[in-house]
Amino acid sequence: MPQTIAFVSQTGNVMKTTIAAAMGITLAAAGLKVLAVDFDSEHRERGASIATWLDERRVKHPGRPQLEILTPRTAQEGLDGINRPEIDIALLDCPSRATKASFVLAADAHFTILPLPPGTKDATLTLSTIDQMLEEGIRPERLAVILTRTGSDAEARDYINWLRSANRGPINILTEHIPEQIAYRIALGRHLAITETPQVGVRVHARRAIDALIDAFDNATTRTDIPPAALDLRGAA
Ligand SMILES: Nc1ncnc2c1ncn2[C@@H]1O[C@H](COP(=O)(O)OP(=O)(O)OP(=O)(O)O)[C@@H](O)[C@H]1O
Ligand SMILES: [Mg+2]
Repeated sequence: MPQTIAFVSQTGNVMKTTIAAAMGITLAAAGLKVLAVDFDSEHRERGASIATWLDERRVKHPGRPQLEILTPRTAQEGLDGINRPEIDIALLDCPSRATKASFVLAADAHFTILPLPPGTKDATLTLSTIDQMLEEGIRPERLAVILTRTGSDAEARDYINWLRSANRGPINILTEHIPEQIAYRIALGRHLAITETPQVGVRVHARRAIDALIDAFDNATTRTDIPPAALDLRGAA
């Protein structure tokens, strides 16, 4: 039974798919078998989901770490398809807007990541999503918020402090954040993860954030399904 990480948000373009790809590729580079489950069937039909990106990456960069792909038509079909003995970690990439299905997936997942770009609208919606998840009985220790598409360290810090003062218990609010960078957009367009960005400075920034998310996931879950030696190689991508 693989460990599962869900990626959920209430608005689009917050980096769910980008972070899922970067975490998956980092873990695959460390020797884990990673399955990307594409729950965004609407974007998939239009050729713009994690499944299409990973398919194209396999062709363009055959020598780089690759992920297995699952393209279910329904949330239940996806959950049923995850249970493959050879898979260590399944990444549940949810659609733009959290639906009932997203909450079902998060409730089932070992860990849920909510990327949050700065802005009061996104922050308010993320907080209400967290509240809904807590009401559904999801453990706060299994939730993580990471600031994404930030303009500066100061801007990220303001929102991190705001979230912490909102007092939603022991949810993970990461200190690391991921800035808005043209270099990331270009890397993604070339089917490279943000952790594979050619420019060293922004690549290091992305790796620190992705490693922090992997650490948070690791701390929140039991390690019995994950070969510990492989995790020690994080960031090897
Ligand atoms: N840090 C960044 N800096 C600049 N551009 C970025 C960054 N992260 C992502 N992007 C760009 O924004 C686009 C949207 O990101 P992504 O697909 O990861 O968001 P998403 O939350 O999965 O969106 P959706 O809700 O539509 O599924 C990417 O294709 C990429 O071009
Ligand atoms: Mg997406």
